[in-house]
Amino acid sequence: MAIKITGPTILRGEVEVSSSKNAILPILAGSLLSNDEVIINKVPDINDVDVILELIMDMGVKVEKKDNKLSIKCLGKINNPSYELVRQIRASFLVMGPLLAKQGIVKISLPGGCAIGTRPIDLHLKGFAALGADIQLSGGNVVAKAGELIGNHIYLDFPSVGATENIMMAATLAQGTSYIENAALEPEIVDLANFLNLMGAKITGAGSNVIKIEGVKELKGVNYTPIPDRIEAGTYMVATAATRGEVIIKNVIPEHLKAISAKLIESGTIIDEQDKQILVKGRNVVKPVYIKTLPYPGFPTDMQAQFMAYLCSAKGSSVITESVFENRFMHVPELLRMGAEIKTEGRTAIIKGIPTLTSANVKATDLRAGAALVLAGMVAEGESIINNSHHIYRGYENIINKLKNLGAHIE
Ligand code: UD1
Repeated sequence: MAIKITGPTILRGEVEVSSSKNAILPILAGSLLSNDEVIINKVPDINDVDVILELIMDMGVKVEKKDNKLSIKCLGKINNPSYELVRQIRASFLVMGPLLAKQGIVKISLPGGCAIGTRPIDLHLKGFAALGADIQLSGGNVVAKAGELIGNHIYLDFPSVGATENIMMAATLAQGTSYIENAALEPEIVDLANFLNLMGAKITGAGSNVIKIEGVKELKGVNYTPIPDRIEAGTYMVATAATRGEVIIKNVIPEHLKAISAKLIESGTIIDEQDKQILVKGRNVVKPVYIKTLPYPGFPTDMQAQFMAYLCSAKGSSVITESVFENRFMHVPELLRMGAEIKTEGRTAIIKGIPTLTSANVKATDLRAGAALVLAGMVAEGESIINNSHHIYRGYENIINKLKNLGAHIE
């Protein structure tokens, strides 16, 4: 599958942000903790959600979807997740915590590496072990067993988003109280905690670096709407700045976008934060900036590629350091094909601004790298083809029509 873009475009108008991919994926895994019906509203139509739903249906869970509303109900014993589905998406590993807590035993294949790095799961397993699980690795699988999980202190060597979520979910049904120390602070962690608390969990401190989870006997059903996607919002903000356009981004929580807004303002873009929306006005002259990706509330690694595409047309040289993932510059060779002047050394990229990018035939290597190329394609003059566009549909709902409505020539 490929996307064709004819540039240059100046984006103008309004765009509505969908629910957060990174909030809904753990929420779907967390719905396995209850035997009652769990209803999720405003479910984004993206491929990662489809894969997780296929996974949990394959595990014997009843899933019904009507428009953008989901009903999920566990019908008894939940089966182990299948290798074929787990290997498609790393977030499927998030079913491990709920299954272990609920059934006391789980066998799941190791997720393996991906384009942006080896992405180990040692912190997840360390957390489960601290809760009393016996963990064995064999034949590419991990088997965890626990009669009953027992609350404990778990210190994370790094504030991993997935490990914080997986351990938090497991601890909801543990006997006694657990503390996750050096927990991730991402808004998606807070959203998951809110979801679990509405189901009857007792979680406090989510959003701070110590999360306290008092174990309860069972979790009830719930009707929940996840938070808006801050990375989708950020992508439209940067796309507006890059095309020197003017767009109102609707359905956002401006607080979640502080790091992105700060770097856009530093580069000269005008940002007007309103109640649940942000007005972005691009400026002709883009100032170079220094960016280092960090866990929240630092600058998100998931916005790094899109910012790099934007900074290609800055007046001067920008520096981007990727500190979260070890190999997240897969978009650089593709941007070079579009005339960019970027040099990388280890985890740092130096982006020398040029007057404009040129159209080219490129390929998306992962979700955010793909988004960066869409952005570059709208800036460049002429027709660009972005191959492997399936990566982009993993996380951007209706991206073609949303951009068309803003004036892009994209199909
Ligand atoms: C989540 C997001 C992803 C985002 C990332 C960082 C979801 C579904 N995905 O991924 O979009 O880019 O957070 O904000 O929410 N690590 C370990 N051991 C572990 C776990 C992680 O060493 O057990 C390392 C990873 O290799 C990586 C770093 O920690 O270098 C961050 O990973 P983590 O925060 O766990 O990211 P994910 O939850 O996989």
